[in-house]
Amino acid sequence: MSSSISSSTQDSLDDSPQPNLPLRKIPGTYGLPFFGAIKDRLQFFYYQGRNEFFNTRMSKYNSTIFRINMPPGPFIANNPKVIVLLDAVSFPVVFDLTKVEKKNVLATYSPYFSFFGGYHPCAYQDPSEPTHNKIKQIIFSLISSRHDKFISIFQNSLNELFNNIESQIAATTSADFSTLSNSMAFEFLFRSLYNTDPKDTKLGTEGQSIVTRWLSLQLAPLVTLGLPVIPDFIEDMLLRTIKFPFFPAKSGYKKLYDVIYEASAKTLDEAEQLGLKRDEACHNLIFMSFFNAYGAMTAWYPILIKWIGLGGEKLHKQLSDEIRAVVLSEGGEVTMSGLEKMTLTKSAVYEAFRIEPPVRHQYATAKKDLVVQNHESSFEIKKGELILGYQPFATNDPKIFENPETFKADRFVGEKGEKLLKYVYWSNGRETENATVDNKQCPGKDMSMLLSRLMVVELFLRYDTFGIEVGTSYLGPSVTVKSMTAKATKII
Ligand code: HEM
Repeated sequence: MSSSISSSTQDSLDDSPQPNLPLRKIPGTYGLPFFGAIKDRLQFFYYQGRNEFFNTRMSKYNSTIFRINMPPGPFIANNPKVIVLLDAVSFPVVFDLTKVEKKNVLATYSPYFSFFGGYHPCAYQDPSEPTHNKIKQIIFSLISSRHDKFISIFQNSLNELFNNIESQIAATTSADFSTLSNSMAFEFLFRSLYNTDPKDTKLGTEGQSIVTRWLSLQLAPLVTLGLPVIPDFIEDMLLRTIKFPFFPAKSGYKKLYDVIYEASAKTLDEAEQLGLKRDEACHNLIFMSFFNAYGAMTAWYPILIKWIGLGGEKLHKQLSDEIRAVVLSEGGEVTMSGLEKMTLTKSAVYEAFRIEPPVRHQYATAKKDLVVQNHESSFEIKKGELILGYQPFATNDPKIFENPETFKADRFVGEKGEKLLKYVYWSNGRETENATVDNKQCPGKDMSMLLSRLMVVELFLRYDTFGIEVGTSYLGPSVTVKSMTAKATKII
């Protein structure tokens, strides 16, 4: 992911507009209609892969801003043409609602809205649309009403997760972290947001597979399976020629809807008082819980454990020393105030979010002619053009982050480190800013940060170190846990 355009400006961190940067035409071409989009898509998924796809063009155009086609393209996306932003300075324009619109831009294509009861969920809406703010309001309200339960419920969920990992290692010498952590996340969300265990509802043991089918049909055009038995171009056509219909997920979704509807009476009453329809609110709760939250957690926890695991025994010792000392000073309990005192743990979590942000693409449409700047130049974007901030490059910008490809657990410790937090963008906004009903930042930001810290804390309260192997799957890293070394000395 390294940029050929270097020379560090880290000591003078400033991304306010620079009056003297030369105006440059945005480089890059979309190629011939249809063929250009297919060529870019094959290169993106199969012949180059994501990072190489962006890296080769960044070098060729000597620019972090250029034009490309983004998948899926024909025939299911009307407009694959985007202007991509790959540096930390230009990227935040996708958060600036005075300049961009966020209607229907989760990707360059949208699934059929029958997946969501015919409604446009909050994440697909611009805040100027009539229901965005009301839906986000009930989401904030639900999260804050359950907030004081998160620590204890997640501690129980993690306890089950670690027990399952240990049993799998005992039985087969290794444990597939992603599979076990996905089940943990699914059950945790039910318990924490809906005060029920999915297995005790009419979903029985089917809940997670119902959600996986519903998600897979929506996301299939945006992934590659990499199955060796199917030639690439056949897989490409199978995944990206037509939108997948809702009906294979319909009966499972109906069950899920009934369960969430029943468990959410209070939230739905509140939604009605705000002028929302009960069913619209319920479809939105499902989207929030199982697309936004569960979808992101399944991508994120393997990333977090990958980077903490690769940190090795030295980092594990530093983290466990910090965590155990703070917990001891808090009377043996994991508390909110204690978590705030764990400076290395906090920094390590920010660093994992920085080095490998779990949601990579952020799209936006220019709502007027505008100018964006990278470190070297200014570029004009016309009203109506689609912008893509590709986050893994922006948060690995070598002009902002020294040795960006190195996982430096203490990068954000101290005054100098904290100044870098404004360049951490995983929540669809700066780490130094907060989600509100009027912006598009993730309303689960604080909750996700709390749970991530808690995962590291519980890990090192129980173990001295652990060993992993990392591979890749079509959704991100696949993490296999090879060993868990239980805490040697009982301190607390
Ligand atoms: C590590 C976990 C998470 C990550 C990485 C994450 C990331 C994101 C990102 C990048 C967006 C913006 C999507 C876009 O517009 O392009 C977003 C939006 C959203 N997230 Fe999260 N999220 C996480 C957890 C959660 C949780 C736990 C919840 C709720 C309990 C949640 C609820 C939402 C909602 C409702 C939106 C739409 C907000 C709006 O449109 O105004 N997320 N999240």
